Formats: sequence, structure tokens, C-alpha cells
Amino acid sequence: MKLFLDTAEIDEIRTVNAWGVLDGVTTNPTLFSKIKGKTYDEVLQEICAINKGPVSAEVVADDVDGMLKEGRHFAKLADNIYVKVAMSENGLEAMNRFRAEGIKTNCTLIFSANQGLLAAKAGASLLSPFVGRLDDINEEGMNVIRELVEIITIHEIEAEVLTASVRHPRHVTDAALAGSHIATLPFKVFQQMVHHPLTDKGIVQFKSDWETARAAIAANAKG
Ligand code: E4P
Repeated sequence: MKLFLDTAEIDEIRTVNAWGVLDGVTTNPTLFSKIKGKTYDEVLQEICAINKGPVSAEVVADDVDGMLKEGRHFAKLADNIYVKVAMSENGLEAMNRFRAEGIKTNCTLIFSANQGLLAAKAGASLLSPFVGRLDDINEEGMNVIRELVEIITIHEIEAEVLTASVRHPRHVTDAALAGSHIATLPFKVFQQMVHHPLTDKGIVQFKSDWETARAAIAANAKG
């Protein structure tokens, strides 16, 4: 399963990219609103220069012409831009038009397998069901991932399922087991995946035992 970072923070992207585990980046207007002193275009160009995987740039217009205008602009910023379009009737039309122009899209705000199926048929390359927001309203977000992955597999559809709105490491494991092609994670979840209490405790113990052994060798050498 490919792992994307769900952020517009350049430092976070540099960090995870340096670990060698970063396959792409997703941004959205909320994530961009946390960045100070840069335009969205500047942020996107910086991200695309750091990581060559898909970088999602979200349109905010709700009419087709507005979506097309914003999306065409983003697509010119870098070769690895995927235009992120929210699921809606106009969104479907815009994704269909982008497909005809060879512009890749990521359909966002998907909350059912049927929405994912429609987005795939309209030409979206990436289908983003939001698992955390479904869990928040007492639904089982991962069910949408399971259903959509099965539909994509049975019907040999080219689009990839991108598990979004990930809140914790268990979501990542479950998405991988469900066959999701991609999951996009906040920086914090990447960090949580690295750590385990027994790993961290083990590192401290090995270091301390090493120091003890070195001290004993130094004492013996002194005679
Ligand atoms: C995905 O592309 C979205 O940016 C993101 O995963 C939304 O997550 P949230 O529900 O934590 O805002």
C-alpha cells in the first residue's frame, strides 16, 4: 500500500520523504489555511519539488467552469499534480472533462461505495473515502474501503482507492488489510507508526548496557 502525507507543512514532508517511505501528498483548503506567508501555488510547487509522487491540489469552485479553471491552473504547476475535486454532480462533470484533457484527478469527500463507483466512471484516478469522519458519526468508515476495493477489483476498474481522514495507526493497518491501494496520513500518524513502547524501551536498555560494558572494559584496561 502506498503511503501519502496529508499535510501542507513543508518540514513534515521533508522529514517523511527522508525516511524513504513517502509516495505522495494530499492537501486541502483546511490544511493550507494553517500555512502562513505563502500562496497555495508556492506551497504546491515546493511539495512537488520534494516528492515526485502524486500531489493533490483541491479546487474550491462549485461550478464546472470554475473547477476547470482552477484545475487547469494547478495542472500547469507541476507534472505530478492531481486535481482534487469534491464529489458532486458538477464535480463528476469536471472530472470527466479533466480526463478528456489528460489531467489526473482525486475525487474527495467520498462517503459511500456508490459515490466511489461514480467517481471512477467519471474518470477519477484516485477515490478518497473519508474513514475518520464516518467513524465520528458512529458509522464504520472502513466498510466503505472494503466495499469499494471489492468493486474496483471485481470490475477491473483502473482507479485506486485512497483511504483518507485517517486518525490513528489502526486505520492504516485495516486499510492495508482491506486492500486499499493508498492511505493518506497526518504526520502524527506516521510518527505513531514508527514507535512502539517496547522498541523505545529496548533502545534505552541497549544503550545503557553498552555503556556499562564499555566502562567495564575501560576499568579492566587500567588494571
Ligand atoms: C484527504 O485527502 C483529506 O485531506 C483528509 O484526509 C481529510 O481528513 P480529516 O477528516 O482529518 O480532515
